[in-house]
Amino acid sequence: MAKGDLPFVHLMGSLGLFKIEMCGIVGYTGSKSALPILLSGLHSLEYRGYDSAGIALAGKEGLWLKRRAGRVSELEEAIGDDEIPSGVGIGHTRWATCGAPNEPNAHPHRDCSGRIAVVHNGIIENHVQLRRKLEEEGHKFRSDTDTETLAHLVENTMASGSDLAQSVRSAVSQLEGSYAIVVISATEPGRIIAARSDAPLILGLGDGENFVASDVVALIEHTRRVVILEDHHLADVTSDNVRIVDADGEEQPIREIAVTWDIAAAEKGGFEHFMLKEIHEQPAAVRETLRGRVDAAGHLTLDEMRMSEEEIRDIDKVFVVACGSSFHAGLVAKYALEHWTRLPVEIDVASEFRYRDPVLNSETLVVGISQSGETADTLAALRYAQHQKAKVISITNVVGSSITRDSDAVIYTHAGPEIGVAATKTLTTQMTALWLLALWVAQTRGTMFPDERRAVFEELARLPGLMEEVLSDDSKTFMVSERFKEARTWLFIGRGVGFPVAMEGALKLKEISYLHAEGFAAGEMKHGPIALLEDGVPVVAVASKSHVHAKLLSNIEEAKARGAVIVAVGNPGNDEVAKLADELLEVPHVTQLLSPALDVLPLQLLAYHVAKARGLDPDKPRNLAKSVTVE
Ligand code: M6R
Repeated sequence: MAKGDLPFVHLMGSLGLFKIEMCGIVGYTGSKSALPILLSGLHSLEYRGYDSAGIALAGKEGLWLKRRAGRVSELEEAIGDDEIPSGVGIGHTRWATCGAPNEPNAHPHRDCSGRIAVVHNGIIENHVQLRRKLEEEGHKFRSDTDTETLAHLVENTMASGSDLAQSVRSAVSQLEGSYAIVVISATEPGRIIAARSDAPLILGLGDGENFVASDVVALIEHTRRVVILEDHHLADVTSDNVRIVDADGEEQPIREIAVTWDIAAAEKGGFEHFMLKEIHEQPAAVRETLRGRVDAAGHLTLDEMRMSEEEIRDIDKVFVVACGSSFHAGLVAKYALEHWTRLPVEIDVASEFRYRDPVLNSETLVVGISQSGETADTLAALRYAQHQKAKVISITNVVGSSITRDSDAVIYTHAGPEIGVAATKTLTTQMTALWLLALWVAQTRGTMFPDERRAVFEELARLPGLMEEVLSDDSKTFMVSERFKEARTWLFIGRGVGFPVAMEGALKLKEISYLHAEGFAAGEMKHGPIALLEDGVPVVAVASKSHVHAKLLSNIEEAKARGAVIVAVGNPGNDEVAKLADELLEVPHVTQLLSPALDVLPLQLLAYHVAKARGLDPDKPRNLAKSVTVE
């Protein structure tokens, strides 16, 4: 696929490997007032981190700086009606790792003179040594962050006569770790210098104005012309020029690409929260992920697969690695992968995988799943797998993300930007992409009859319509949320593919409503979790029809006998479930292996409504960031 044809370009995560701040950066230089542009950019980046926010503007008189602990709205309030006549500035929204989430540690950070300002995503691993040296030289630090060292390093080089760009290049050459940095100076007020290593930065090209950002959502309002800054490159940006050099100062070509997705995709589009909007976007997202995959003869094509049929036939084992909801998508897919391909499939949370000495070789296929393509543990797991000579296929939603570089082949989910911290449409599109992968492997290895494959694909094609049906009325999930919003403990149970759905339902609820929720294989209840049951504890049972349905019904009865109140996700017309359930959330029947794409929908809505009923912001759960780029 040519870069200009990218379905969407969305750099939501930091590209680094290990300890990276999960923050947002925006910069502007041009003839307009920078302040409102930066504030609006920070609002759109806030899902990346909301511990503190800050802006620095450059002018001949010096730097103007405002920072606040907390959300961008608090920064905005502190700025009030002030109009600062500057067309150059940088802004940052922070998810704290190095230094507490307070105002002194908020970015931008300055040098001693207060004329240089720096924002940074990532971590400077040798900052302690650098700081010690700089302090010995007489530099005074105002924060506990690693970032501030950079401002003082730039100050040192500028003091010896170098310009801002040369000074930043010299400063970054002394850094170990990962960084995306953007620097301005009051001594060269029209300029923004940006540099990166293992953390994303993009440039936005305008007419008489240019932008820098960690994420395209901060720019889309102003321009669709972007340049992805490569690792170890440095950009020198003014209102009418962009110059890129490598670490040796060699001029580099500017490769412009077009962002094609709609601005509405990055906005709430009339929904109260991004999460709700994204829940409702699932039918369209799944449809997009399925689009163009089957030819007239019913033959499945995965164009992006860069693996030969022979390589696929040689595979003797599959590992799936991922984190959080992506891990749950992997668990769901394991059932289909084993059933359709007859290959053994192991699944690991990515943070465990490389530390347990898994047995991998050139006949092993490792499937890495990450919507952001930036999750540090997943990236490290895939690098480990490649090092062991395994074949690596990744599933991601973000074109150009780091995971795509660490994979032999990539399957993109076409979910569009997901802003809510809770994964919703990326999860169901991951399931879809994984089912396509499983069918494709089965087709290549000849482990499914063509008719059987076609029948599954037809079921897949029905999913978006069925999802629309489920999402068309959420009054029941709303009622259930009202009934149970005060329950402190929730258990979610399921069997077969219902088990990962139960885990996902519990994760959704706990991450946005801060209630204790656990997902279990229903058969495990008697081995411990049943002790948690007492009168009134809600037990959510994923009870759509399956070959283990009767066993699940017994587990529901056991829970009910111990006082649990049963909320069941079940198919219409299933009287057995209807009789046992205190509350029934209906989903249409679909072939069992694909049922998670429907069963998970009421659980997403339930979590959303409970969070709302508890007065919480489902889009910005405490302590969480959209992509976890630290190990
Ligand atoms: O970007 P990734 O898919 O690698 O992210 C993995 C998890 O961090 C993510 O799914 C997380 O668990 C979500 N907040 C769940 O809603």
